[in-house]
Amino acid sequence: MNYNISLIPGDGIGPEIVAEAKKVLDKVCEKYGHTFSYSEVLLGGASIDVHGVPLTDEAIATAKASDAVLMGSIGGDAKTSPWYKLEPSKRPEAGLLAIRKALNLFANLRPAYLYNELRAACPLRDEIIGDGFDMIIVRELTGGLYFGERKTVEENGVKKAIDTLSYNENEIRRIAIKAFDIAMKRRKKVTSVDKANVLDSSRLWRKVVEEVAKDYPEVTLEHMLVDNCAMQLVRDPKQFDVILTENMFGDILSDEASMVTGSIGMLSSASLNETRFGLYEPSHGSAPDIAGQNKANPIATILSAAMMLRFSLDLDEEANAVEAAVQKVLTAGYRTGDIMSEGCTLVGTKEMGDLIAKE
Ligand code: NAI
Ligand code: MG
Repeated sequence: MNYNISLIPGDGIGPEIVAEAKKVLDKVCEKYGHTFSYSEVLLGGASIDVHGVPLTDEAIATAKASDAVLMGSIGGDAKTSPWYKLEPSKRPEAGLLAIRKALNLFANLRPAYLYNELRAACPLRDEIIGDGFDMIIVRELTGGLYFGERKTVEENGVKKAIDTLSYNENEIRRIAIKAFDIAMKRRKKVTSVDKANVLDSSRLWRKVVEEVAKDYPEVTLEHMLVDNCAMQLVRDPKQFDVILTENMFGDILSDEASMVTGSIGMLSSASLNETRFGLYEPSHGSAPDIAGQNKANPIATILSAAMMLRFSLDLDEEANAVEAAVQKVLTAGYRTGDIMSEGCTLVGTKEMGDLIAKE
């Protein structure tokens, strides 16, 4: 098959890790007979340096015209980079928010998977880890508290700030459908997280999620209050398969879930719209402290490319092959600095990419 892919190398370690992901995708094309055509798109600091703004209309148009977008990461060191002397709406991060909005990416997927080889980095006790855990958080990304009306007023000389949390049925339904579709490809369990004992938006959330669940009789649905979920993630993460939740709860829970794996350089993410289109990027940032030193772990980006194969290009077998290759290289004992442990072989960004591509 032929596909058009937009590549956003971005800033810091971004270009280095995207190059390794492309190396792995080239192997996928060679082995399975696909052709991927790449267009490079500037975003963040890289775009500011060339165009003076973090995102241009041309960049949006190129991204929209492709089947999927694979991104490294954007941003620089806030203390030293000249990008942060600009006003907030012109800084690198503004470009990322703007492209997510322009592409209507309402579904954010963040897997939290513990590799057995990396157990030592996991902050949880051995008996809690058990055989390991493998979950994915499906977070609503364009509604709720972060997008509602906000204002600060003054009443009798006292300042008062108001943020609005609202969801309509359609917004809830489309993210719920994504979560159930994903559960069908996994262990068929959805945990919907809300605060239905207090919030009206959560009561509507529950009702709509239950309606959607009727179309997926094979999937087990459970509801969990968000405070309990925060606790369960460190008490017994094995219980989760797919966690479905609204924007702010998902923001907080996905950071918590990534920390319990102990290895930020390993975690991928995807942001999807109503079609198969998506933007794929590692969960970590641009790590300016190690940029240009061949030290960055490219695995989060390579696994994001695997998610792209699975969710946007419908190439499940190819996605599985990439994930299996990562697993093999870890089992063989190769590590970048961030996941290094005793008795393992230390390799750089390029060598890690080569090893995974070979497998
Ligand atoms: P960061 O994730 O870039 O780095 C945190 C720590 O983890 C650093 O010590 C870094 O060296 C290390 N690290 C991160 N990724 C790694 C990898 N692949 N391999 C090895 N080590 C890795 O977060 P930080 O320092 O808070 O932010 C740096 C810049 O990244 C900022 O400009 C921030 O705004 C931006 N950022 C961008 C994101 C994105 O593009 N979506 C997300 C988060 C932050
Ligand atoms: Mg966050």
